[in-house]
Amino acid sequence: MTDHHASSSTAKVALVTGSAQRVGAAIIKDLHARGWCVIIHYRHSEQAALRLADDLNSQRPQSAFTLKLDLQQPLAAQQLAEQALNITGRIDALVNNASTFYPTPIGEATLDAWDDLFASNARAPFFLSQALAPALTKSRGCIVNIVDIHARRPFKQHTVYCMAKAALAMMTMSLAKELAPAVRVNGVAPGAILWPEDNTPSAIASATQQQILASVPLARSGSPEDIARTVAFLIEDAPYITGQIIAVDGGRTHTLGVE
Ligand SMILES: NC(=O)c1ccc[n+]([C@@H]2O[C@H](COP(=O)([O-])OP(=O)(O)OC[C@H]3O[C@@H](n4cnc5c(N)ncnc54)[C@H](OP(=O)(O)O)[C@@H]3O)[C@@H](O)[C@H]2O)c1
Repeated sequence: MTDHHASSSTAKVALVTGSAQRVGAAIIKDLHARGWCVIIHYRHSEQAALRLADDLNSQRPQSAFTLKLDLQQPLAAQQLAEQALNITGRIDALVNNASTFYPTPIGEATLDAWDDLFASNARAPFFLSQALAPALTKSRGCIVNIVDIHARRPFKQHTVYCMAKAALAMMTMSLAKELAPAVRVNGVAPGAILWPEDNTPSAIASATQQQILASVPLARSGSPEDIARTVAFLIEDAPYITGQIIAVDGGRTHTLGVE
Protein backbone atom coordinates (compact mmCIF):
# COMPACT_ATOMS: atom_id res chain seq x y z
CA MET A 1 0.00 0.00 0.00
CA THR A 2 1.17 3.53 -0.75
CA ASP A 3 0.57 6.21 1.85
CA HIS A 4 1.29 9.27 -0.27
CA HIS A 5 -1.53 11.59 -1.09
CA ALA A 6 -2.57 12.17 -4.67
CA SER A 7 -0.55 14.90 -6.32
CA SER A 8 -3.46 17.09 -7.26
CA SER A 9 -6.54 17.44 -5.09
CA THR A 10 -8.45 18.55 -8.17
CA ALA A 11 -7.84 15.39 -10.23
CA LYS A 12 -10.77 13.03 -10.16
CA VAL A 13 -10.15 9.64 -8.60
CA ALA A 14 -11.35 6.23 -9.81
CA LEU A 15 -11.15 3.00 -7.86
CA VAL A 16 -11.28 -0.08 -10.11
CA THR A 17 -11.39 -3.48 -8.41
CA GLY A 18 -9.39 -6.38 -9.82
CA SER A 19 -7.48 -4.05 -12.10
CA ALA A 20 -3.90 -5.34 -12.26
CA GLN A 21 -4.41 -6.99 -15.63
CA ARG A 22 -6.83 -7.83 -18.44
CA VAL A 23 -10.07 -5.80 -18.61
CA GLY A 24 -9.55 -3.98 -15.30
CA ALA A 25 -6.11 -2.75 -16.37
CA ALA A 26 -7.55 -1.47 -19.66
CA ILE A 27 -10.14 0.54 -17.68
CA ILE A 28 -7.37 1.95 -15.46
CA LYS A 29 -5.19 2.94 -18.44
CA ASP A 30 -8.09 4.55 -20.27
CA LEU A 31 -9.20 6.66 -17.28
CA HIS A 32 -5.59 7.60 -16.51
CA ALA A 33 -5.10 8.79 -20.09
CA ARG A 34 -8.16 10.99 -19.60
CA GLY A 35 -6.46 12.70 -16.64
CA TRP A 36 -7.84 10.67 -13.76
CA CYS A 37 -5.98 9.52 -10.66
CA VAL A 38 -6.44 5.79 -10.35
CA ILE A 39 -6.43 3.25 -7.56
CA ILE A 40 -5.48 -0.21 -8.78
CA HIS A 41 -6.95 -2.89 -6.55
CA TYR A 42 -5.65 -6.47 -6.73
CA ARG A 43 -5.53 -9.73 -4.81
CA HIS A 44 -2.83 -12.04 -6.22
CA SER A 45 -1.46 -10.11 -9.22
CA GLU A 46 0.97 -7.99 -7.23
CA GLN A 47 3.75 -7.70 -9.81
CA ALA A 48 1.35 -6.70 -12.56
CA ALA A 49 -0.31 -4.13 -10.26
CA LEU A 50 2.99 -2.56 -9.20
CA ARG A 51 4.29 -2.50 -12.79
CA LEU A 52 1.13 -0.80 -14.01
CA ALA A 53 1.28 1.79 -11.22
CA ASP A 54 4.98 2.48 -11.91
CA ASP A 55 4.29 2.95 -15.58
CA LEU A 56 1.41 5.38 -14.95
CA ASN A 57 3.35 7.27 -12.27
CA SER A 58 6.27 7.70 -14.65
CA GLN A 59 3.84 9.43 -17.02
CA ARG A 60 2.35 11.57 -14.21
CA PRO A 61 3.80 11.42 -10.68
CA GLN A 62 1.46 10.44 -7.84
CA SER A 63 -1.36 9.58 -10.19
CA ALA A 64 -1.65 5.82 -9.54
CA PHE A 65 -1.88 3.87 -6.29
CA THR A 66 -2.24 0.20 -5.44
CA LEU A 67 -4.23 -1.60 -2.76
CA LYS A 68 -4.20 -5.33 -2.05
CA LEU A 69 -7.27 -6.97 -0.53
CA ASP A 70 -9.02 -10.31 -0.88
CA LEU A 71 -12.69 -9.49 -1.36
CA GLN A 72 -13.62 -12.93 -0.10
CA GLN A 73 -12.79 -11.68 3.39
CA PRO A 74 -15.96 -10.36 5.05
CA LEU A 75 -14.55 -6.94 5.98
CA ALA A 76 -12.46 -6.38 2.87
CA ALA A 77 -14.90 -4.13 1.02
CA GLN A 78 -15.16 -1.76 3.97
CA GLN A 79 -11.37 -1.80 4.41
CA LEU A 80 -10.79 -1.16 0.71
CA ALA A 81 -13.10 1.87 0.85
CA GLU A 82 -11.34 3.27 3.92
CA GLN A 83 -7.84 2.68 2.54
CA ALA A 84 -8.75 4.25 -0.79
CA LEU A 85 -10.12 7.37 0.90
CA ASN A 86 -7.02 7.54 3.13
CA ILE A 87 -4.85 7.75 0.03
CA THR A 88 -6.76 10.21 -2.10
CA GLY A 89 -9.32 11.87 0.18
CA ARG A 90 -11.98 11.60 -2.51
CA ILE A 91 -13.56 9.10 -4.89
CA ASP A 92 -15.36 10.14 -8.07
CA ALA A 93 -15.90 6.75 -9.70
CA LEU A 94 -16.09 3.20 -8.41
CA VAL A 95 -15.79 0.43 -11.01
CA ASN A 96 -16.76 -3.00 -9.64
CA ASN A 97 -14.75 -5.21 -12.00
CA ALA A 98 -13.17 -7.95 -9.83
CA SER A 99 -14.76 -11.32 -10.42
CA THR A 100 -14.28 -15.04 -10.05
CA PHE A 101 -15.62 -17.24 -12.83
CA TYR A 102 -15.75 -21.03 -13.09
CA PRO A 103 -18.33 -23.75 -13.70
CA THR A 104 -20.51 -25.21 -10.95
CA PRO A 105 -22.26 -28.12 -12.72
CA ILE A 106 -25.31 -29.28 -10.87
CA GLY A 107 -24.33 -32.12 -8.53
CA GLU A 108 -20.85 -30.68 -8.06
CA ALA A 109 -21.47 -27.17 -6.70
CA THR A 110 -20.14 -26.58 -3.19
CA LEU A 111 -20.93 -24.04 -0.51
CA ASP A 112 -17.37 -22.72 -0.86
CA ALA A 113 -17.86 -22.07 -4.58
CA TRP A 114 -21.19 -20.34 -3.87
CA ASP A 115 -19.57 -18.11 -1.24
CA ASP A 116 -16.58 -17.34 -3.45
CA LEU A 117 -18.61 -16.52 -6.58
CA PHE A 118 -21.11 -14.40 -4.69
CA ALA A 119 -18.39 -12.65 -2.63
CA SER A 120 -16.52 -11.26 -5.63
CA ASN A 121 -19.42 -10.75 -8.05
CA ALA A 122 -22.18 -9.47 -5.75
CA ARG A 123 -21.37 -9.06 -2.06
CA ALA A 124 -18.17 -7.00 -2.34
CA PRO A 125 -19.64 -4.66 -5.01
CA PHE A 126 -22.61 -4.01 -2.72
CA PHE A 127 -20.61 -3.34 0.45
CA LEU A 128 -18.03 -1.31 -1.43
CA SER A 129 -20.81 0.82 -2.93
CA GLN A 130 -22.37 1.24 0.50
CA ALA A 131 -19.07 2.22 2.10
CA LEU A 132 -18.25 4.71 -0.66
CA ALA A 133 -21.77 6.14 -1.03
CA PRO A 134 -21.05 9.17 1.20
CA ALA A 135 -17.83 10.02 -0.68
CA LEU A 136 -19.52 9.49 -4.05
CA THR A 137 -22.45 11.63 -2.95
CA LYS A 138 -20.06 14.39 -1.97
CA SER A 139 -18.25 14.24 -5.32
CA ARG A 140 -21.49 13.65 -7.28
CA GLY A 141 -19.71 10.65 -8.66
CA CYS A 142 -20.80 7.38 -10.16
CA ILE A 143 -20.59 3.62 -9.98
CA VAL A 144 -20.08 1.31 -12.95
CA ASN A 145 -20.62 -2.40 -12.41
CA ILE A 146 -19.04 -4.87 -14.82
CA VAL A 147 -21.83 -7.37 -15.25
CA ASP A 148 -22.07 -10.04 -17.99
CA ILE A 149 -24.55 -10.78 -20.77
CA HIS A 150 -25.06 -14.06 -18.87
CA ALA A 151 -26.72 -12.19 -16.02
CA ARG A 152 -29.86 -12.32 -18.19
CA ARG A 153 -29.32 -15.45 -20.29
CA PRO A 154 -27.79 -18.58 -18.77
CA PHE A 155 -24.38 -20.03 -19.53
CA LYS A 156 -24.68 -23.79 -19.13
CA GLN A 157 -22.95 -25.26 -16.05
CA HIS A 158 -22.27 -21.77 -14.67
CA THR A 159 -25.50 -21.35 -12.70
CA VAL A 160 -23.96 -19.87 -9.55
CA TYR A 161 -21.82 -17.35 -11.49
CA CYS A 162 -24.86 -16.32 -13.56
CA MET A 163 -26.93 -15.95 -10.38
CA ALA A 164 -24.25 -13.75 -8.79
CA LYS A 165 -24.04 -11.53 -11.89
CA ALA A 166 -27.86 -11.32 -11.94
CA ALA A 167 -27.64 -10.02 -8.36
CA LEU A 168 -25.13 -7.42 -9.54
CA ALA A 169 -27.48 -6.38 -12.35
CA MET A 170 -30.32 -5.91 -9.86
CA MET A 171 -27.99 -3.97 -7.58
CA THR A 172 -27.26 -1.63 -10.50
CA MET A 173 -30.93 -0.81 -10.95
CA SER A 174 -31.73 -0.68 -7.25
CA LEU A 175 -28.83 1.58 -6.24
CA ALA A 176 -29.51 3.82 -9.23
CA LYS A 177 -32.82 4.62 -7.53
CA GLU A 178 -31.49 4.76 -4.00
CA LEU A 179 -28.42 6.91 -4.63
CA ALA A 180 -30.10 9.34 -7.06
CA PRO A 181 -29.91 12.20 -7.69
CA ALA A 182 -26.34 12.57 -6.43
CA VAL A 183 -24.78 9.32 -7.71
CA ARG A 184 -25.41 7.59 -11.04
CA VAL A 185 -25.15 3.80 -11.11
CA ASN A 186 -24.76 1.92 -14.40
CA GLY A 187 -23.34 -1.32 -15.73
CA VAL A 188 -21.47 -2.71 -18.70
CA ALA A 189 -22.25 -6.29 -19.74
CA PRO A 190 -19.36 -7.77 -21.73
CA GLY A 191 -19.86 -10.61 -24.18
CA ALA A 192 -16.83 -12.55 -25.42
CA ILE A 193 -13.89 -10.23 -24.72
CA LEU A 194 -10.93 -12.18 -23.34
CA TRP A 195 -11.05 -15.92 -22.78
CA PRO A 196 -10.07 -17.11 -19.31
CA GLU A 197 -6.50 -18.47 -19.15
CA ASP A 198 -6.09 -22.07 -20.36
CA ASN A 199 -5.29 -24.68 -17.71
CA THR A 200 -7.30 -22.89 -15.02
CA PRO A 201 -10.67 -23.90 -13.54
CA SER A 202 -12.22 -21.02 -15.54
CA ALA A 203 -10.91 -22.25 -18.91
CA ILE A 204 -13.41 -22.63 -21.75
CA ALA A 205 -12.83 -25.47 -24.22
CA SER A 206 -11.74 -24.29 -27.66
CA ALA A 207 -14.74 -25.97 -29.33
CA THR A 208 -17.03 -23.93 -27.04
CA GLN A 209 -15.04 -20.78 -27.86
CA GLN A 210 -15.58 -21.38 -31.58
CA GLN A 211 -19.28 -22.02 -31.01
CA ILE A 212 -19.60 -18.79 -29.03
CA LEU A 213 -17.77 -16.72 -31.65
CA ALA A 214 -19.93 -18.23 -34.39
CA SER A 215 -22.97 -16.72 -32.66
CA VAL A 216 -21.59 -13.16 -32.55
CA PRO A 217 -23.20 -11.04 -35.29
CA LEU A 218 -20.06 -8.89 -35.54
CA ALA A 219 -18.15 -12.16 -36.08
CA ARG A 220 -15.26 -11.57 -33.66
CA SER A 221 -14.50 -11.15 -30.00
CA GLY A 222 -14.32 -7.69 -28.46
CA SER A 223 -11.30 -6.12 -26.79
CA PRO A 224 -10.69 -4.89 -23.24
CA GLU A 225 -10.53 -1.40 -24.77
CA ASP A 226 -14.14 -1.80 -25.98
CA ILE A 227 -15.17 -2.27 -22.34
CA ALA A 228 -12.90 0.54 -21.11
CA ARG A 229 -14.27 3.13 -23.52
CA THR A 230 -17.85 2.23 -22.59
CA VAL A 231 -17.00 2.57 -18.90
CA ALA A 232 -15.42 5.97 -19.63
CA PHE A 233 -18.53 7.01 -21.58
CA LEU A 234 -20.79 6.13 -18.64
CA ILE A 235 -18.52 7.96 -16.21
CA GLU A 236 -17.67 11.09 -18.18
CA ASP A 237 -20.21 11.55 -20.89
CA ALA A 238 -23.58 10.27 -19.72
CA PRO A 239 -24.96 12.71 -17.13
CA TYR A 240 -28.57 11.72 -17.83
CA ILE A 241 -28.05 7.94 -17.81
CA THR A 242 -28.55 5.92 -14.63
CA GLY A 243 -29.77 2.39 -13.90
CA GLN A 244 -28.74 1.13 -17.35
CA ILE A 245 -26.62 -1.86 -18.31
CA ILE A 246 -25.03 -1.59 -21.75
CA ALA A 247 -24.17 -4.85 -23.50
CA VAL A 248 -20.80 -4.66 -25.27
CA ASP A 249 -21.05 -7.98 -27.04
CA GLY A 250 -20.97 -7.56 -30.83
CA GLY A 251 -24.72 -8.12 -30.86
CA ARG A 252 -24.56 -11.56 -29.24
CA THR A 253 -27.34 -10.96 -26.70
CA HIS A 254 -29.85 -11.05 -29.52
CA THR A 255 -28.74 -14.46 -30.75
CA LEU A 256 -28.17 -15.99 -27.34
CA GLY A 257 -29.74 -19.26 -26.33
CA VAL A 258 -28.29 -21.61 -23.79
CA GLU A 259 -24.74 -22.71 -24.57
N1 LIG B 1 -13.25 -11.58 -20.12
C1 LIG B 1 -14.45 -11.63 -20.69
O1 LIG B 1 -14.59 -11.98 -21.87
C2 LIG B 1 -15.67 -11.29 -19.88
C3 LIG B 1 -16.94 -11.70 -20.33
C4 LIG B 1 -18.06 -11.38 -19.58
C5 LIG B 1 -17.93 -10.65 -18.42
N2 LIG B 1 -16.68 -10.28 -18.00
C6 LIG B 1 -16.57 -9.52 -16.75
O2 LIG B 1 -15.66 -8.43 -16.96
C7 LIG B 1 -14.86 -8.23 -15.80
C8 LIG B 1 -13.39 -8.32 -16.17
O3 LIG B 1 -13.15 -9.54 -16.85
P1 LIG B 1 -11.71 -10.24 -16.80
O4 LIG B 1 -11.80 -11.43 -17.68
O5 LIG B 1 -10.65 -9.22 -17.03
O6 LIG B 1 -11.69 -10.69 -15.27
P2 LIG B 1 -10.67 -11.72 -14.58
O7 LIG B 1 -9.34 -11.60 -15.21
O8 LIG B 1 -11.30 -13.08 -14.56
O9 LIG B 1 -10.69 -11.18 -13.08
C9 LIG B 1 -10.32 -9.85 -12.79
C10 LIG B 1 -9.64 -9.79 -11.45
O10 LIG B 1 -10.56 -10.05 -10.39
C11 LIG B 1 -9.75 -10.22 -9.25
N3 LIG B 1 -10.44 -11.01 -8.22
C12 LIG B 1 -11.11 -12.16 -8.35
N4 LIG B 1 -11.54 -12.59 -7.14
C13 LIG B 1 -11.12 -11.67 -6.23
C14 LIG B 1 -11.24 -11.54 -4.84
N5 LIG B 1 -11.87 -12.47 -4.08
N6 LIG B 1 -10.69 -10.48 -4.23
C15 LIG B 1 -10.04 -9.55 -4.96
N7 LIG B 1 -9.89 -9.61 -6.29
C16 LIG B 1 -10.43 -10.66 -6.92
C17 LIG B 1 -8.47 -10.92 -9.71
O11 LIG B 1 -7.39 -10.20 -9.15
P3 LIG B 1 -5.90 -10.85 -8.91
O12 LIG B 1 -5.46 -11.31 -10.28
O13 LIG B 1 -5.12 -9.72 -8.38
O14 LIG B 1 -6.07 -11.97 -7.94
C18 LIG B 1 -8.55 -10.82 -11.23
O15 LIG B 1 -7.35 -10.39 -11.84
C19 LIG B 1 -15.32 -9.26 -14.79
O16 LIG B 1 -16.28 -8.71 -13.91
C20 LIG B 1 -15.95 -10.35 -15.64
O17 LIG B 1 -16.95 -11.09 -14.96
C21 LIG B 1 -15.56 -10.58 -18.70
